[in-house]
Amino acid sequence: MRDPFRAICDDDLERRWIWISLIMAFVMGGLLGLYAVASNIHPPSNVETIDSTRLHLTEEFAEDNLGVKENTDGSMTVTMVAARYGFYPPVIEVPVNTPVKFRVASADVLHGFHVPFTNAATMVVPGYISEVNTAFPREGEYSFLCNEYCGLGHDSMWSRLVVVPKSAGTTAANSARGNNS
Ligand code: CUA
Repeated sequence: MRDPFRAICDDDLERRWIWISLIMAFVMGGLLGLYAVASNIHPPSNVETIDSTRLHLTEEFAEDNLGVKENTDGSMTVTMVAARYGFYPPVIEVPVNTPVKFRVASADVLHGFHVPFTNAATMVVPGYISEVNTAFPREGEYSFLCNEYCGLGHDSMWSRLVVVPKSAGTTAANSARGNNS
């Protein structure tokens, strides 16, 4: 077969490197795709818009409604606001091995939401609600952090996630918030 790059390049060595770099790009792109599918990594959420300057006036993201809620099917929904420089509420408590849906909105700029060693990772883009579905198979305390540079306090923008035994149920964010203050 005739090398299609012969039309743009006469040099054998150069054409070989064109092929090598193309193949490398495809192999790496393919690996990223495979890894994303295998680890159940999601792109940043469904396209659901919200007015970031009026979060406190919305029903879902008003301060009193933030935190962990148990759904009728036993799964959990966690509503959070990311704002410079923290996540609210700052401590989230969820039961182990239970489907958890995070719904996160930014009150100001672009933030990230990432629980290391899990598939819970998303960008929190102002104007959109970010949604992540996950479950935590191991009990313990996890830190989760902002992984998008959002300003001088970015380094200290992190929060705590406590995965508790199932029987303990959820004590909701309010008690967690109380413990933290
Ligand atoms: Cu928020 Cu970095």
